[in-house]
Amino acid sequence: MEPEQHFPSPSLSQTRWWSKETVAVVTGGNKGIGFSLVKRFAELGLSVVLTARDKQRGEAALETLKQQGFSDYVHFLLLDVSDPLSISTFASSFRAKFGPTLDILVYNEVEENSNSNSNSVEHAESVMRTNFYGPKLLVEALLPLFRCSSSITRVLNISSRLGSLNKMRNREIKKVLEQEDLSEEEVSVVVEMFLGDVREGRWKRRGWPAYWTDYAVSKLALNAYSRVLAKRYSYQGSGLSVNCFCPGFTQTSMTKGKGTHTPDHAAARAATLALLPPHLLPTGKFFSLRTTTSFLNAKL
Ligand SMILES: NC(=O)c1ccc[n+]([C@@H]2O[C@H](COP(=O)([O-])OP(=O)(O)OC[C@H]3O[C@@H](n4cnc5c(N)ncnc54)[C@H](OP(=O)(O)O)[C@@H]3O)[C@@H](O)[C@H]2O)c1
Repeated sequence: MEPEQHFPSPSLSQTRWWSKETVAVVTGGNKGIGFSLVKRFAELGLSVVLTARDKQRGEAALETLKQQGFSDYVHFLLLDVSDPLSISTFASSFRAKFGPTLDILVYNEVEENSNSNSNSVEHAESVMRTNFYGPKLLVEALLPLFRCSSSITRVLNISSRLGSLNKMRNREIKKVLEQEDLSEEEVSVVVEMFLGDVREGRWKRRGWPAYWTDYAVSKLALNAYSRVLAKRYSYQGSGLSVNCFCPGFTQTSMTKGKGTHTPDHAAARAATLALLPPHLLPTGKFFSLRTTTSFLNAKL
């Protein structure tokens, strides 16, 4: 996927289709872009479930939002996306608390070891668990809830331009990922191939992305999986829309506070994408916020 050329940004006040009954889930919502996105959805009047892997950090974030006046809109549930048991417990807790319908899922977290050292692959397994296998398992666990939504269910995966296909230097693997009829199994095979190359110490000469290698491969795989999912559930008026969004260089813990813009700014753009009215809602696309003022998009 490469970024799209056009970033849709209609005025949300004129295209409002949601209400307080509309339920959004944001993963990794206790800080950074995830936290800002929970706040943005609450400001816009949706019910939003802030999820975090740590109870204390999640509850502290929820309390901050309540103090800012969002008590009626924000909720908290525990979710560690690298743990399959936590994912299934979350799916059951969600159903028990909110019923069988989920309208919006924003998969946002980043494994804390991603980017810790630009060319280390020391934590490749856990980076893949959080950034690739996590969203796959979560989507599978939540599919029955998506199907109950009366409107189009929206999945927005927060990705990165580092996961664009043009970062892949191995032509054969790139060719596999470019296939029009790419399958979920083929994406998993590529990820396992990468992990095998890491284990055997040959990843440097195999043409994987040169920078932030494990993080870039995890996002490349997430983008490819999103495209497969979008195609499988092509919504045609009802169903599922799946897109990816790169927030650009944003001032969060991941970048040690550096960046060209705030998490609130990135979150506002992500919310606009997640809330596009049905007639403007794409699927299988990759959008990128490159700077504070201009937008670029990419093909997944
Ligand atoms: N910031 C940028 O410049 C930038 C650029 C491109 C893409 N992105 C993407 O934007 C997204 C958000 O990143 P950010 O910059 O907001 O990072 P951040 O401030 O470091 O926040 C990351 C969040 O992910 C959570 N997390 C990590 N592992 C988790 C797990 N196993 N289960 C549940 N939650 C987990 C963290 O929880 P804890 O507090 O418990 O660790 C935290 O809430 C990521 O997908 C990242 O790849 C960011």
